[in-house]
Amino acid sequence: MNEITQIHTGKSTGLRTGWWNPDLEPEEFRRLGYQAVDMMADYFASIRDRPVFPGKSSQAVADAFNEPLPLTGQPADQILRDWPARVLPYATHLGSPRYFGYVNGSGTMLGVLAEALAASVNMNAGGWKAGPAATEIERRTIAWIAELIGYPIGCGGLFTSGGTMANFTALQTGLRNIAPYDLTADGLQSETRRGKYLVYMADHEGHISIERVADLLNLGRRAVRRVPSRKDFTIDPEALETMIRADRARGDHPFCVVAQVGSINTGAIDPLEEIADICERNELWFHADGACGAVGAMLPEKKEMYKGLDRADSVTLDPHKWLFIPYECGCLLVREPEKLRRAFSLSASYLRGTLPTEYTGLDYFEYGPQMSRGFRALKVWMTLRHYGVEGYRKLLRQGIRCAERLDERVRASDEFERLHEPNLYIYSFRYAPLVDRELAQRSKWDRARVDARLDRLNQRIADEIQARGIAFIMTTRIRERTVLRMSICSHRTTLADIDAVFDALTQLGREISGEED
Ligand SMILES: Cc1ncc(COP(=O)(O)O)c(C=O)c1O
Repeated sequence: MNEITQIHTGKSTGLRTGWWNPDLEPEEFRRLGYQAVDMMADYFASIRDRPVFPGKSSQAVADAFNEPLPLTGQPADQILRDWPARVLPYATHLGSPRYFGYVNGSGTMLGVLAEALAASVNMNAGGWKAGPAATEIERRTIAWIAELIGYPIGCGGLFTSGGTMANFTALQTGLRNIAPYDLTADGLQSETRRGKYLVYMADHEGHISIERVADLLNLGRRAVRRVPSRKDFTIDPEALETMIRADRARGDHPFCVVAQVGSINTGAIDPLEEIADICERNELWFHADGACGAVGAMLPEKKEMYKGLDRADSVTLDPHKWLFIPYECGCLLVREPEKLRRAFSLSASYLRGTLPTEYTGLDYFEYGPQMSRGFRALKVWMTLRHYGVEGYRKLLRQGIRCAERLDERVRASDEFERLHEPNLYIYSFRYAPLVDRELAQRSKWDRARVDARLDRLNQRIADEIQARGIAFIMTTRIRERTVLRMSICSHRTTLADIDAVFDALTQLGREISGEED
């Protein structure tokens, strides 16, 4: 056997001379792997019956893991046993059909298996050479997603850790491509440049991640201009254009408009066609933040709401939200791939080699902020193939139907107040018994008193339903009032869950308001 064959077969002398091989033996790996799969299968079988939230204090959770650095190794069996014994009791179950927090998706089972498989090969989807299959699966899945939502399939794009990083990548690309000079070398730090770069979004429903992005780009959070919204929580296009023109006349540099495509509190979709026109007229980057709702464009019956999405320069959509892919998985589509490259391309001899070769692979590190990248695409690729477009359409319709049911229950009750039309799957409403609403009409003073009491009540209801593990519901602020908010972003939620949760909310509302009287 020559030296190369010896290395290839693992029989080289180095492996026989007491060198530590920390891998598990194949049979041992198989046994532990089966155990882990059994744990996951048991978990999924019981997920519906578990309290959604552990209801423990943050100190209690911290104490549960307060242990010294392990100086010597521990048996794998013992470590695995800690999963059901020590980790699960302190978990919030985002996969529960009664989890309605933030905009968190539920996690598909095939996605779970994909995560394990991707980790086993451990490809790096940053550079083509470190992940040829990972790269091509990502490229293909991105094209599928574009086709799914009716975006030009020649677009570029990539998977990111989440919506915030997708928004960051989009706005960085917009800034680099709209600025009249090359920002690559000096960035914005030039004494000859005057005026501020500004980005625009709706005042009520514009998502805070855009302020984070302005921060990351060192534009400052005040670079995000909040545009008045209309009654239905969508941006007012006239006010938008007026602001852009006034800012430009003052010497600032408007560069981007961010449209909400499924907004954080009400699922509202901004008027995309009008925003596209405004961006075209004013030569601005049109970014559609569809982290929550862009994938709804796959539904033929919702086509009208999404008109103009295909005109966006970039679109954020989060597979870890409404495609139910396990964390983390955000996604960005950019109409012209070359613009992404212009924003992120870099080179070094150790990245690509110095001599000309046949190497024509796509290096994702040239198209986004990360260099090393996980094989996120696999879980999307596998789940999308498993459900197919038809399966996903069914799931999205079920979520929308759940939000509509919630709205029906709110409208039929004297104890809750309706705040908006059910748009997609995010729905906000208020515990506000009719007697209180009537009392609030009497005078300004009564209104302030009633509102303060209802704000407190709604918060207490959300806290209590969490603490009792019945459901995970949070509050938000809608037009200065504290209200209940449910993001029905689980592929497991049924109408029966919605009814049960609404009944529990009604019961809690009565109980807590009785205590306060
Ligand atoms: C509209 C919108 N954009 C961006 C984000 C940020 O996404 P992520 O939490 O995945 O970073 C969210 C999160 O809920 C969102 O609702």
